[in-house]
Amino acid sequence: MKKTLLITGGAGFIGSHVVRLFVQKYPEYKIVNLDKLTYAGNLENLSDVEDSDNYIFEKGDIVDKEFIQSLFKKYDFNGVIHLAAESHVDRSITNPMEFIMTNVVGTVNLLNVAKNNWSDDFADKLFYHVSTDEVYGSLPETGLFLETTPYDPQSPYSSSKASSDHFVRAYGNTYGLPFIISNCSNNYGPNQFPEKLLPLFINNIRNNKELPVYGDGLFTRDWLYVEDHARAIDLIYHKGKNAETYNIGGFNEWTNIDLIKVMCAQMDEILRNDKGTSEQLITYVKDRPGHDKRYAIDASKIKNELSWEPSLQFEEGLQKTIQWYMNNQQWIDNVTSGDYQKYYMEQYG
Ligand code: NAD
Ligand code: TYD
Repeated sequence: MKKTLLITGGAGFIGSHVVRLFVQKYPEYKIVNLDKLTYAGNLENLSDVEDSDNYIFEKGDIVDKEFIQSLFKKYDFNGVIHLAAESHVDRSITNPMEFIMTNVVGTVNLLNVAKNNWSDDFADKLFYHVSTDEVYGSLPETGLFLETTPYDPQSPYSSSKASSDHFVRAYGNTYGLPFIISNCSNNYGPNQFPEKLLPLFINNIRNNKELPVYGDGLFTRDWLYVEDHARAIDLIYHKGKNAETYNIGGFNEWTNIDLIKVMCAQMDEILRNDKGTSEQLITYVKDRPGHDKRYAIDASKIKNELSWEPSLQFEEGLQKTIQWYMNNQQWIDNVTSGDYQKYYMEQYG
C-alpha cells in the first residue's frame, strides 16, 4: 500500500462521498474510515464499497484519546482527512456542548495524537481539516468570502468550527504539523441527512407535509454538489500547499425561497403533479435565532491554482439529487424512523 489514510466522519454525508472517491480512485491506498455513527452516520451510505480490499471501517469517537492513539499505532497513517463533526446549525442552538466536544475537543485530540506520532518525521504527512464557509460569518448584500476574510462566526456550530480551524493552524505554527484547511459552501446531493434544507423539503413533499421556511426566506447561500466537493478535497489533499487555506464554492448563490421554488417545480415534474402543487406546501415559520443572512464564496484560488471547477450546473445537480431520493426511499425511511421523529417535533412542533 502506497499510503494509509485516516478519513474521519466517513459514514456521514460528505465523508461517504470522499471515502468512495478515494477507495475507488486509489486502489493502492489503504483507507481507514473512523466514525462514531451518530444519528448522522450511516454505513448504508458505503454499501457499494464496504467489501473493497483497500477499505476498513473503525467505529469510534474522535474525543477518545486512547482509541485514537491505538488507531495510529495500528495503522501508521500518512495522512488524516478530518470531516467528523456535528454539522447542523439548528442542533447547535439546542445543544452547543455536543458541538464543542466533537468539533473542538475531538479535533484537538486528533491533532495531538497526529503530532505526537508524526513528530519524528513530518515529511510526507498531512493533516487536512475540512471546514465551512460559515466561520467567516454573515455577508451584506455584496462581497464574497476570501481566504483572508477575518473569522466572525455567529452560531454555536460555526464558532466550534472556527475554533477547530484556529487549533489546526496553531498546531502548524507551534509544532510544525503539516496541515491544510478548506472552507466550503453549502453542499447538496445524495445521502444528506433530512435535517438540512434540501433533503428535508424533498422528503416533506414526498409525504405531503409543510415546507417550513425560516423568516422571510430571503437568506442567501452558495450551493455545491457534494461530488464536486469530494473532487476538490482529493485535489487539495494531493496538490494543495502546506499551511494554506482553500475556499471551495459553487459560484451559485440562491435565496432560500428562490431555490425552494425551483426544487418544488422539479418535484412536481418528477412526481407528475400539476404545476404549483408542491409550492402550496410552503409555510413561513419563526426564524432561526441569529440566522446568518448571506454566505458567498470566492473560489478563484482553487480554480486558478488547482484548476478545480464545479462540474455540474445547479439545475442538473438538483435533478440528480431529487432523483436519488426518489430512487432510495428505503434509505430515507430508515433514517427518518426512531429519533428523527422526536427531533422533528422538537424543531418544528
Ligand atoms: P454529517 O453530519 O453528515 O456527518 C458527520 C459524520 O461525523 C457522521 O458520520 C457522524 O457519525 C460522524 N461523527 C460525529 N461526531 C463524531 C465523533 N465524535 N467521532 C467520530 N465521528 C463522529 O456532516 P457533513 O455534512 O458530511 O459534513 C462533514 C464535514 O464537512 C463537517 O466537518 C462539516 O463541518 C463540513 N462541511 C459541511 C458542509 C455541508 O454543507 N454539509 C459544508 C462545508 C463544510
Ligand atoms: P441548512 O441546510 O440548515 O444549512 P446552513 O444553515 O448551514 O446554511 O439551511 C440552509 C438555509 O435554509 C438556511 O438559511 C436556513 C434555511 N432553512 C429553512 O428555511 N428551513 C428549514 O427547515 C431548514 C432546515 C433550513
